[in-house]
Amino acid sequence: MASVKEINPQNNSFVMVIFGATGDLAQNKLIPALFSLFSQNKLSGNFSIIGFSRREMPDVEFRKFFREFSDRKGWAEFSKHLFYQRGTFEDKSAYKNLIKKLKLFDKKNKTLMARFFYLATPPQNYETILDFMKKTRLSEGEGIRIIIEKPFGKDLDTAVALDEKLHKIFKEEQIFRVDHYLGKETVQNMLAFRFANGIFEPVWNKNFIDHVQITFAESGGIGRRGKFFDGVGILRDVAQNHLMQILAAVAMEQPVSFEKEAIRDARAKVIQAINCIEPEDVPKFVIRGQYQGYRSEGDVDNNSKTETFAAMKLFIDTERFKGVPFYLRAGKMMPKSTVYVSIVFIQTCHILFKEYGCPEIGNVLTIKIQPDEGISMQVIAKKPGEKLSLETVNMKFTYKEEFEGKIKDAYEKVLLDIFSGDQMLFNRSDELASSWEFITKILKGWEKEDKKGFRIKSYEKGSWGSEESVDLIKQDNREWIEA
Ligand code: BG6
Repeated sequence: MASVKEINPQNNSFVMVIFGATGDLAQNKLIPALFSLFSQNKLSGNFSIIGFSRREMPDVEFRKFFREFSDRKGWAEFSKHLFYQRGTFEDKSAYKNLIKKLKLFDKKNKTLMARFFYLATPPQNYETILDFMKKTRLSEGEGIRIIIEKPFGKDLDTAVALDEKLHKIFKEEQIFRVDHYLGKETVQNMLAFRFANGIFEPVWNKNFIDHVQITFAESGGIGRRGKFFDGVGILRDVAQNHLMQILAAVAMEQPVSFEKEAIRDARAKVIQAINCIEPEDVPKFVIRGQYQGYRSEGDVDNNSKTETFAAMKLFIDTERFKGVPFYLRAGKMMPKSTVYVSIVFIQTCHILFKEYGCPEIGNVLTIKIQPDEGISMQVIAKKPGEKLSLETVNMKFTYKEEFEGKIKDAYEKVLLDIFSGDQMLFNRSDELASSWEFITKILKGWEKEDKKGFRIKSYEKGSWGSEESVDLIKQDNREWIEA
């Protein structure tokens, strides 16, 4: 059930203000997702999108800014809904001009249009924008929602402070803290897979699962995002949010219902149950590395220590998973772009078949989050022939083969949920606080190491990251699984 008034973008009017409208997020995710919704007739109501950014340009130029779309069918129609407000985030008069523009839209449309404010800027701008929204009373009015991107803060204290600031200005039901991985079909499907299929629940625990791996690999580097990424690093950029949410979907308990707060409760509980790695233990459990050539990327410090790869081993203190290691790794400039979970089950093959040669790894359930979205189960089978010989084979389901159409970009789901006011797939403060608590201890461990003169090692582009990450899992007689 929606907790704030539902806006149906097919017939209700709304305005979305995108702060940071010329940045990567708006360009690569938000505008494409809005255009795609428009093309599917899901934005057929009266709507306007106002880009708010520093550079000077009239509306027509802003419409041309998204050049790659200009030839697409429907773009000419869609782009008529795009408007622009120039301004720096510290300039009060820019907010005042924005208010004038919003009032004009209301007048023209003879209605008070619902207002969505999307903070798609680097996180260091959030507080300034929020302060000016308050000062100029831009934050006041009916039907206002504030959408805030990750990283939400840069450690536990700043995340809590940001949340307090938000709560001083907005009510909780107006706040949408985005982690677009929650909007991915495959992440949502994990809950259906686990809780709708009675056959998995009985084995989804420490009695049957040997360990869990989560791999988040991207073949690209930081591209044009040096300004954002340097000093932030992969731990804050990806592990604090996307990895934690994937982990939550794997490890959470069955929620009491499929209602918004029940799901968020279950997610929050499991994130809170992750055993924190104390700063002094960080070198034993967490690896970091930087791809070769990172320091020569645009807007990156020549001596940067920022990690572009991190791997870790952690435990979750729940009855279900006590003692089961979770190995997580995330990195840029990896051999390929792929995100997946591997659930490795306890090997029992040797009980009966030891002398026939058991495969080293037996049953593995792979949940492919992207690309080639799907689920596969590795099982051991007898190879046809007179002699008994065992081999592993795969049972597989892919979205492409089973369901028609392409999987939608997660941002379409994120936007539709913002319109309808459904916060289920958005972070709640307690989930964020727990994941930041865990991540902040690692950051503190790294700070300690840095003070002792730690030098971050580089890894080859196109490799699977720092070699120590191989040792991290090898020392437990296990290995990273490629999918
Ligand atoms: C973003 C990170 O949140 O997620 C990026 O800031 C990362 O560094 C991106 O590349 C990955 O998202 P997706 O949907 O392309 O897998």
